[in-house]
Amino acid sequence: MLMKDVAAQAGVSVATVSRVLSGSRGVKPVHYDRVMATAKHLNYKPHLVAQALRTATTRTVGILVPAIDNPFFPRLITAAERELNGRGFALLISSSNDDEEIEAARLEMLVERRVDGLLVSASTWHPQRPTLRDVAGRVPVVLFDQRADGVAAPFVGIDDQGGMEQLIDHLTAQGARTLAHIGASDENWSGFRRRSAFERLIGDRPDLCLVRSLQGSFSREHGYRAAMALLQQEPDVDAVTCGNDLIASGVLDAADSLRIRVPEDLLVTGYDDIDIATMCKPRLTTIRQPVDELMRTAVEMLLAPRSPADGARLEQYLSVELVVRNSSVRG
Ligand code: RIB
Repeated sequence: MLMKDVAAQAGVSVATVSRVLSGSRGVKPVHYDRVMATAKHLNYKPHLVAQALRTATTRTVGILVPAIDNPFFPRLITAAERELNGRGFALLISSSNDDEEIEAARLEMLVERRVDGLLVSASTWHPQRPTLRDVAGRVPVVLFDQRADGVAAPFVGIDDQGGMEQLIDHLTAQGARTLAHIGASDENWSGFRRRSAFERLIGDRPDLCLVRSLQGSFSREHGYRAAMALLQQEPDVDAVTCGNDLIASGVLDAADSLRIRVPEDLLVTGYDDIDIATMCKPRLTTIRQPVDELMRTAVEMLLAPRSPADGARLEQYLSVELVVRNSSVRG
Protein backbone atom coordinates (compact mmCIF):
# COMPACT_ATOMS: atom_id res chain seq x y z
CA MET A 1 0.00 0.00 0.00
CA LEU A 2 1.44 3.33 -1.08
CA MET A 3 0.56 6.90 -0.30
CA LYS A 4 -0.69 7.34 -3.86
CA ASP A 5 -3.29 4.58 -3.26
CA VAL A 6 -4.65 6.49 -0.26
CA ALA A 7 -4.69 9.68 -2.32
CA ALA A 8 -6.57 8.02 -5.19
CA GLN A 9 -9.17 6.48 -2.94
CA ALA A 10 -9.64 9.70 -0.90
CA GLY A 11 -9.83 11.80 -4.07
CA VAL A 12 -7.04 14.17 -3.03
CA SER A 13 -3.43 14.73 -4.11
CA VAL A 14 -0.46 12.77 -2.73
CA ALA A 15 0.82 16.07 -1.28
CA THR A 16 -2.41 16.46 0.72
CA VAL A 17 -2.11 12.92 2.11
CA SER A 18 1.48 13.65 3.06
CA ARG A 19 0.52 16.92 4.76
CA VAL A 20 -2.28 15.26 6.74
CA LEU A 21 -0.14 12.32 7.88
CA SER A 22 2.81 14.48 8.86
CA GLY A 23 0.58 16.73 10.96
CA SER A 24 1.21 19.85 8.86
CA ARG A 25 -1.13 22.77 9.25
CA GLY A 26 -3.31 24.37 6.58
CA VAL A 27 -5.17 21.24 5.41
CA LYS A 28 -8.91 21.74 4.81
CA PRO A 29 -10.90 19.90 7.52
CA VAL A 30 -12.89 18.02 4.88
CA HIS A 31 -9.68 16.73 3.30
CA TYR A 32 -8.19 15.91 6.69
CA ASP A 33 -11.23 13.80 7.65
CA ARG A 34 -11.34 12.05 4.26
CA VAL A 35 -7.62 11.14 4.32
CA MET A 36 -7.73 9.91 7.93
CA ALA A 37 -10.82 7.76 7.25
CA THR A 38 -9.30 6.32 4.05
CA ALA A 39 -5.92 5.62 5.69
CA LYS A 40 -7.70 3.82 8.51
CA HIS A 41 -9.97 1.91 6.13
CA LEU A 42 -6.99 0.78 4.00
CA ASN A 43 -4.89 0.14 7.13
CA TYR A 44 -2.20 2.37 5.63
CA LYS A 45 0.97 2.68 7.73
CA PRO A 46 3.45 5.29 6.51
CA HIS A 47 7.06 4.12 6.38
CA LEU A 48 8.43 6.13 9.29
CA VAL A 49 12.11 6.00 8.34
CA ALA A 50 11.39 7.11 4.79
CA GLN A 51 9.11 9.82 6.14
CA ALA A 52 11.81 11.00 8.55
CA LEU A 53 14.34 11.27 5.73
CA ARG A 54 11.91 13.29 3.61
CA THR A 55 10.57 15.61 6.27
CA ALA A 56 13.48 15.64 8.73
CA THR A 57 11.09 14.72 11.54
CA THR A 58 10.84 11.38 13.34
CA ARG A 59 7.48 11.98 15.06
CA THR A 60 9.32 10.98 18.24
CA VAL A 61 9.56 12.89 21.51
CA GLY A 62 11.97 12.06 24.33
CA ILE A 63 11.04 12.30 27.99
CA LEU A 64 13.62 12.47 30.78
CA VAL A 65 12.56 12.08 34.40
CA PRO A 66 14.71 12.17 37.55
CA ALA A 67 13.55 8.85 39.03
CA ILE A 68 11.68 6.14 37.19
CA ASP A 69 11.50 4.05 40.40
CA ASN A 70 9.34 6.72 42.06
CA PRO A 71 5.74 5.74 41.10
CA PHE A 72 4.89 9.42 40.58
CA PHE A 73 6.96 9.62 37.38
CA PRO A 74 5.52 6.56 35.56
CA ARG A 75 2.15 8.27 36.02
CA LEU A 76 3.48 11.38 34.28
CA ILE A 77 5.04 9.26 31.52
CA THR A 78 1.75 7.40 30.95
CA ALA A 79 -0.12 10.70 30.67
CA ALA A 80 2.50 12.15 28.28
CA GLU A 81 2.45 9.05 26.09
CA ARG A 82 -1.33 9.16 25.84
CA GLU A 83 -1.22 12.81 24.77
CA LEU A 84 1.56 12.23 22.25
CA ASN A 85 0.17 9.01 20.77
CA GLY A 86 -3.12 10.83 20.19
CA ARG A 87 -1.18 13.29 18.04
CA GLY A 88 0.77 10.62 16.15
CA PHE A 89 4.04 10.85 18.13
CA ALA A 90 6.00 8.03 19.79
CA LEU A 91 7.75 8.51 23.14
CA LEU A 92 11.30 7.53 24.13
CA ILE A 93 11.66 7.22 27.91
CA SER A 94 14.78 7.84 29.98
CA SER A 95 15.73 8.51 33.60
CA SER A 96 18.59 10.50 35.16
CA ASN A 97 18.55 8.88 38.61
CA ASP A 98 18.68 12.41 40.07
CA ASP A 99 22.25 12.71 38.76
CA GLU A 100 23.28 15.62 36.54
CA GLU A 101 26.03 13.64 34.81
CA ILE A 102 23.64 10.84 33.85
CA GLU A 103 21.10 13.49 32.83
CA ALA A 104 23.65 15.03 30.42
CA ALA A 105 24.46 11.63 28.86
CA ARG A 106 20.77 10.75 28.44
CA LEU A 107 20.01 14.10 26.84
CA GLU A 108 22.79 13.60 24.27
CA MET A 109 21.55 10.07 23.59
CA LEU A 110 17.99 11.29 22.95
CA VAL A 111 19.17 14.09 20.66
CA GLU A 112 21.35 11.62 18.71
CA ARG A 113 18.21 9.58 18.11
CA ARG A 114 16.79 12.66 16.42
CA VAL A 115 13.82 13.28 18.67
CA ASP A 116 11.61 16.14 17.48
CA GLY A 117 11.46 17.56 21.00
CA LEU A 118 12.16 16.82 24.65
CA LEU A 119 10.08 16.86 27.83
CA VAL A 120 12.47 17.22 30.75
CA SER A 121 12.01 17.13 34.50
CA ALA A 122 15.41 18.41 35.63
CA SER A 123 17.60 16.65 38.20
CA THR A 124 18.58 19.96 39.81
CA TRP A 125 17.41 23.52 39.43
CA HIS A 126 20.98 24.89 39.66
CA PRO A 127 22.62 23.02 36.77
CA GLN A 128 26.44 22.95 36.96
CA ARG A 129 26.79 21.46 33.47
CA PRO A 130 25.83 23.29 30.26
CA THR A 131 24.22 20.28 28.55
CA LEU A 132 20.54 21.02 29.24
CA ARG A 133 21.02 24.65 28.24
CA ASP A 134 22.81 23.62 25.01
CA VAL A 135 20.25 20.98 24.13
CA ALA A 136 17.44 23.52 24.58
CA GLY A 137 19.17 25.58 21.88
CA ARG A 138 19.24 22.61 19.49
CA VAL A 139 15.78 21.00 19.81
CA PRO A 140 12.49 22.24 21.33
CA VAL A 141 12.47 21.52 25.07
CA VAL A 142 9.71 21.88 27.67
CA LEU A 143 10.55 21.56 31.34
CA PHE A 144 7.86 20.03 33.52
CA ASP A 145 7.53 19.41 37.27
CA GLN A 146 11.18 20.36 37.98
CA ARG A 147 12.53 23.51 36.38
CA ALA A 148 16.17 24.48 35.88
CA ASP A 149 17.69 27.96 36.02
CA GLY A 150 19.17 29.47 32.89
CA VAL A 151 17.48 27.08 30.45
CA ALA A 152 15.54 28.87 27.70
CA ALA A 153 12.50 26.60 27.69
CA PRO A 154 8.87 26.89 28.80
CA PHE A 155 7.96 25.32 32.13
CA VAL A 156 4.80 23.82 33.60
CA GLY A 157 4.66 22.86 37.26
CA ILE A 158 2.35 23.07 40.23
CA ASP A 159 1.46 25.62 42.87
CA ASP A 160 3.62 24.28 45.73
CA GLN A 161 2.91 27.29 47.92
CA GLY A 162 -0.87 26.81 47.51
CA GLY A 163 -0.53 23.10 48.32
CA MET A 164 1.43 23.78 51.50
CA GLU A 165 -1.07 26.45 52.52
CA GLN A 166 -3.94 23.97 52.24
CA LEU A 167 -1.99 21.44 54.34
CA ILE A 168 -1.12 23.90 57.11
CA ASP A 169 -4.72 25.22 57.26
CA HIS A 170 -6.01 21.68 57.52
CA LEU A 171 -3.48 20.56 60.15
CA THR A 172 -4.03 23.61 62.35
CA ALA A 173 -7.81 23.13 62.10
CA GLN A 174 -7.11 19.65 63.52
CA GLY A 175 -5.28 21.23 66.46
CA ALA A 176 -1.63 20.97 65.32
CA ARG A 177 0.61 23.69 66.81
CA THR A 178 4.14 22.23 66.75
CA LEU A 179 5.06 21.28 63.23
CA ALA A 180 8.05 19.83 61.36
CA HIS A 181 8.74 19.24 57.67
CA ILE A 182 10.61 16.29 56.17
CA GLY A 183 11.37 16.95 52.52
CA ALA A 184 13.82 16.48 49.67
CA SER A 185 16.98 18.44 49.03
CA ASP A 186 17.03 22.18 48.31
CA GLU A 187 18.84 21.32 45.05
CA ASN A 188 15.54 19.89 43.89
CA TRP A 189 12.99 22.50 42.71
CA SER A 190 9.98 20.95 44.47
CA GLY A 191 12.04 20.10 47.54
CA PHE A 192 13.12 23.72 47.84
CA ARG A 193 9.67 25.17 47.11
CA ARG A 194 7.80 22.96 49.60
CA ARG A 195 10.33 23.48 52.39
CA SER A 196 10.49 27.24 51.92
CA ALA A 197 6.68 27.54 51.67
CA PHE A 198 6.36 25.54 54.91
CA GLU A 199 8.84 27.76 56.77
CA ARG A 200 7.29 30.98 55.43
CA LEU A 201 3.75 29.92 56.33
CA ILE A 202 4.66 28.82 59.87
CA GLY A 203 6.76 31.97 60.31
CA ASP A 204 3.68 34.08 59.49
CA ARG A 205 1.67 32.44 62.28
CA PRO A 206 2.78 33.42 65.84
CA ASP A 207 0.52 30.69 67.29
CA LEU A 208 2.55 27.95 65.54
CA CYS A 209 5.96 26.56 66.36
CA LEU A 210 8.31 25.33 63.65
CA VAL A 211 10.44 22.58 65.10
CA ARG A 212 12.66 21.74 62.16
CA SER A 213 12.89 21.07 58.41
CA LEU A 214 14.85 17.95 57.53
CA GLN A 215 16.06 17.70 53.94
CA GLY A 216 17.15 14.56 52.07
CA SER A 217 15.67 12.73 49.10
CA PHE A 218 12.18 11.89 47.88
CA SER A 219 12.41 8.38 49.35
CA ARG A 220 10.79 6.17 51.93
CA GLU A 221 14.22 5.47 53.50
CA HIS A 222 14.87 9.18 54.06
CA GLY A 223 11.39 9.57 55.60
CA TYR A 224 12.04 6.71 58.01
CA ARG A 225 15.53 7.79 59.07
CA ALA A 226 14.65 11.48 59.46
CA ALA A 227 11.49 10.69 61.45
CA MET A 228 13.32 8.26 63.76
CA ALA A 229 15.74 11.07 64.68
CA LEU A 230 13.12 13.83 64.82
CA LEU A 231 10.47 12.03 66.84
CA GLN A 232 12.97 10.83 69.46
CA GLN A 233 14.62 14.23 69.86
CA GLU A 234 11.46 16.36 69.64
CA PRO A 235 8.62 14.61 71.49
CA ASP A 236 6.40 17.72 71.28
CA VAL A 237 6.00 17.59 67.50
CA ASP A 238 2.32 17.06 66.76
CA ALA A 239 2.35 17.22 62.95
CA VAL A 240 4.80 16.40 60.16
CA THR A 241 4.32 17.56 56.57
CA CYS A 242 6.30 15.48 54.07
CA GLY A 243 7.76 16.41 50.68
CA ASN A 244 6.01 13.48 48.99
CA ASP A 245 4.03 10.31 49.74
CA LEU A 246 7.11 8.05 49.79
CA ILE A 247 8.69 10.13 52.55
CA ALA A 248 5.37 10.11 54.42
CA SER A 249 5.12 6.31 54.25
CA GLY A 250 8.59 6.12 55.86
CA VAL A 251 7.44 8.54 58.58
CA LEU A 252 4.42 6.33 59.29
CA ASP A 253 6.77 3.32 59.67
CA ALA A 254 9.03 5.27 62.04
CA ALA A 255 6.04 6.35 64.14
CA ASP A 256 4.92 2.73 64.30
CA SER A 257 8.41 1.58 65.38
CA LEU A 258 8.39 4.20 68.16
CA ARG A 259 4.81 3.34 69.18
CA ILE A 260 3.61 6.83 68.35
CA ARG A 261 -0.02 6.70 67.27
CA VAL A 262 -1.10 8.36 64.01
CA PRO A 263 -3.36 10.36 64.01
CA GLU A 264 -3.99 10.38 67.80
CA ASP A 265 -0.48 11.60 68.81
CA LEU A 266 0.92 12.74 65.48
CA LEU A 267 -0.61 14.03 62.24
CA VAL A 268 1.20 13.12 59.01
CA THR A 269 0.68 14.38 55.45
CA GLY A 270 2.20 13.45 52.07
CA TYR A 271 2.33 15.06 48.63
CA ASP A 272 1.46 13.65 45.13
CA ASP A 273 -1.42 11.21 45.85
CA ILE A 274 0.22 8.12 44.36
CA ASP A 275 -1.27 4.65 45.06
CA ILE A 276 0.78 4.17 48.22
CA ALA A 277 -1.29 6.95 49.86
CA THR A 278 -4.30 4.64 50.02
CA MET A 279 -2.27 1.49 50.72
CA CYS A 280 -0.47 2.58 53.92
CA LYS A 281 -2.00 2.53 57.39
CA PRO A 282 -3.52 4.87 58.25
CA ARG A 283 -4.38 6.10 54.76
CA LEU A 284 -2.52 9.27 53.93
CA THR A 285 -3.80 12.81 53.71
CA THR A 286 -1.98 14.31 50.75
CA ILE A 287 -1.93 16.82 47.91
CA ARG A 288 -3.22 15.50 44.60
CA GLN A 289 -1.22 16.67 41.61
CA PRO A 290 -3.13 17.30 38.35
CA VAL A 291 -1.05 14.72 36.46
CA ASP A 292 -3.14 14.62 33.25
CA GLU A 293 -3.43 18.39 32.99
CA LEU A 294 0.28 18.78 33.73
CA MET A 295 1.36 16.53 30.88
CA ARG A 296 -1.33 17.76 28.47
CA THR A 297 -0.03 21.28 29.03
CA ALA A 298 3.60 20.16 28.62
CA VAL A 299 2.82 18.41 25.33
CA GLU A 300 0.81 21.37 24.04
CA MET A 301 3.68 23.71 24.93
CA LEU A 302 6.12 21.43 23.10
CA LEU A 303 4.09 21.08 19.91
CA ALA A 304 2.79 24.66 19.70
CA PRO A 305 4.58 26.81 17.14
CA ARG A 306 6.58 29.49 18.96
CA SER A 307 9.58 31.69 18.66
CA PRO A 308 12.46 30.92 21.05
CA ALA A 309 11.86 34.23 22.84
CA ASP A 310 8.18 33.38 23.57
CA GLY A 311 9.08 29.91 24.73
CA ALA A 312 11.63 30.95 27.25
CA ARG A 313 9.15 33.26 28.99
CA LEU A 314 6.23 30.85 29.24
CA GLU A 315 5.64 29.50 32.78
CA GLN A 316 2.50 27.90 34.16
CA TYR A 317 1.73 26.77 37.70
CA LEU A 318 -1.31 24.50 38.05
CA SER A 319 -3.59 24.30 41.10
CA VAL A 320 -3.46 21.28 43.40
CA GLU A 321 -6.10 19.64 45.59
CA LEU A 322 -6.02 18.62 49.25
CA VAL A 323 -7.20 15.02 49.79
CA VAL A 324 -8.04 14.38 53.44
CA ARG A 325 -7.65 10.82 54.79
CA ASN A 326 -7.16 9.22 58.22
CA SER A 327 -3.50 10.16 58.83
CA SER A 328 -4.48 13.74 59.73
CA VAL A 329 -7.98 13.59 61.17
CA ARG A 330 -8.46 13.24 64.92
CA GLY A 331 -11.55 11.82 66.57
O1 RIB B 1 7.54 12.25 44.28
C1 RIB B 1 8.39 13.01 43.50
C2 RIB B 1 8.20 14.44 43.71
O2 RIB B 1 9.14 15.06 42.94
C3 RIB B 1 6.85 14.92 43.26
O3 RIB B 1 6.21 15.53 44.31
C4 RIB B 1 7.09 15.80 42.12
O4 RIB B 1 6.39 17.01 42.18
C5 RIB B 1 8.58 15.93 42.06
O5 RIB B 1 9.01 17.18 42.27
